[in-house]
Order: sequence, then C-alpha cells, then structure tokens
Amino acid sequence: DVPLRESADAKGKVIGTAAGGSHLTGARGEITGREFNWLTPENAMKWEAVEPSRGTYNWAEADRIVDFAQAHGQQVRGHTLVWHSQNPSWLTGGSFTPAELRTILQNHISTEMTRYKGKVAAWDVVNEAFNEDGTYRQSLWYTGLGTDYIADALTWARAADPAAKLYINDYNVEGVNAKSTALYNLVKSLKERGVPIDGVGLQAHLILGQVPSTLQQNIQRFADLGVDVAITELDIRMQLPATQAKLAQQAAEYKAVMNACLAVARCTGVTVWGFNDADSWVPDVFDGYGAATPYDENLAPKPAYYAIAESLGGT
Ligand code: G3I
Repeated sequence: DVPLRESADAKGKVIGTAAGGSHLTGARGEITGREFNWLTPENAMKWEAVEPSRGTYNWAEADRIVDFAQAHGQQVRGHTLVWHSQNPSWLTGGSFTPAELRTILQNHISTEMTRYKGKVAAWDVVNEAFNEDGTYRQSLWYTGLGTDYIADALTWARAADPAAKLYINDYNVEGVNAKSTALYNLVKSLKERGVPIDGVGLQAHLILGQVPSTLQQNIQRFADLGVDVAITELDIRMQLPATQAKLAQQAAEYKAVMNACLAVARCTGVTVWGFNDADSWVPDVFDGYGAATPYDENLAPKPAYYAIAESLGGT
C-alpha cells in the first residue's frame, strides 16, 4: 500500500494525526512516521502541560514531538494557545486584574511561539470560543478581557512568529449552523479590521450517520472570506460494538469528509484525532461509543483507512 502521506504530498494536502509521546516509538511510531505528513500534539502544547506552575516550563514532550516531526519531514500544528480548558490551576485559580491577565496571555503566546518559531507551521491560536447558539463562551478570557482577547491574541501571535499560519479552531462548526455562522461573522469582521487571521479549523468530532450535509458548502463559505480551512481533529464515533456494516458506513463517511475538503482549493487537508482506536479520547468521554479512528485497537487499518487512501488517490 502507498502510505497516506505520499498520496497527500502529491496533492499538496495535509494528512495529519494527533500524537503524544507514546506515538513516537515502537509500532505506533512507525505508523506515525510512515503515514502522516503533519502532527498535532494531542496534549503536550496545552498550557497546563507547558507551564504547570507559574514561570516553570516543561517542554519535554512537545520538544520530542517537534523533533520527531523534523526527523520525519513532517509539519507541526501547534495546539493550542488560548483555550478555556486544560489551563494550569495557578491560572484558573488565581485572581488577576484584566491588565495582569492580558500580560499573562501575551507572555504565554510569545514564549511558546518563540520556542517553536520556524518549527510549527500553523497554530490553533484560539480554541473553542463559542457556545452552540453562537454566543461567546464565558471563558476566563472572555469574562476577563471581553471579545478583544481574540484579536489581541492573534496580533500577539503574528508578532511572535510572522511566518506561522494563525487559526481559530472549534467543534460543531462543520456544517452551516448557528455556531459556525457566529465563527464566520467573527472571521469576516477580523479580516475587515485587518486583524491577522489565516485560517479556520473545523475539529470534526463526528458521529456515525451525522456527517453534516452542508460540510463542503460551509468550507467554501469560509474559503470565500479569504482564509484557509483545515479539518483539524477528525474522528467518527459509533455505538459499540463495531459491526462490519458500521465500519463500512464509517469508511464512506471518512471518504465524504475527505472529499468535501479536497473539493475546495483552500481546504489544506485533514488531521485525524489519533490514528487508532486504542488511544482515542472517545471511549473515555462518551460511554458506549468508540471505534472512531482509521486503525483498530491492534493497530490494523480499518475500512476507514482505505477510504482515506482512496480519496487521496492511493490504493
Ligand atoms: O496527564 C494526566 C496524567 O498525569 C493523569 O494520571 C491522568 C489521569 O486522568 O490524566 C492525564 O491527563 C489527561 C490528559 O488527557 C492527558 O492524557 C486528562 O485526564 C484527560 O482529560 C486529557 O484528555 C484530553 C482532552 O483533550 C482534555 O480536554 C484528550 O487526551 C485530548 O484528546 C482532548 O483533545 C481535545 C482537543 O484538545 C480540543 N478539541 C476537543 C478534543 C477532544 O476532547
């Protein structure tokens, strides 16, 4: 079989996977290196991971992932700088004035992006800013700094690494709906105001049988704003047990997502949120659901893997 990354390279597209330190060695490491041309650290670059106590940094796992990527000719998607979740307790439990919070956020963005300057091609600068109804999430950033935190974060990010592509990333924004329309309006207004924004990340944590029919249309409307679009965290979960029929349907749905992206020139490609079912976050969070990724728990490729390969023109 042709590795996915060879087919994707030939099309100039991203085929990525989320990865942790445990995906860089052994059988997992072989697949990570052979099949994917981009890596996203699944947890290693999140704030609680890199600065567990204030001013004390731990870059070990993130460095390992970046080093692996460089050694394997892969690009890295940095994930994520500004989020409501997985923040260190000194930050979430602290009481800071808005001015202090601004300085803390600017320092964080600048410190992390400077460390990986030239080694991280794209960053999820702002993650999950919206509620399902399209209002802003009441995160510590929104309540502390107001909506300006988004424009400020992007501006600081551009200053820290002018060559990196800057993204806003979210989930349940794959189809045309209230949340994706709020994101659309935000990106439109950022562009109009001259705030640096290069792309929109659609996470795509999908459910079998519920791939939005408006996916391609939605990708296209963002592209028409003059930004790139990336599918950043694709998985398609199903109620367990997985049957042949469900796995076949899943393969068709993986292909549909791939094709929706490939049909739009400004869609840079697709990253899966972990390549195998043994390591997927899904069963930990959704009771009774799983089998969401392209490889099974024994690291054997599933029909979904071959569907991705076909969509990329491989076999
Ligand atoms: O590192 C600790 C470990 O020390 C501890 O012993 C263990 C016990 O629970 O927890 C470990 O932390 C876990 C961490 O993953 C690292 O493995 C957390 O409990 C667990 O909650 C955390 O889950 C991650 C989740 O983000 C947190 O929100 C998942 O791995 C990761 O796949 C998931 O990824 C997110 C994206 O960042 C944003 N989009 C949604 C996506 C899925 O939730």
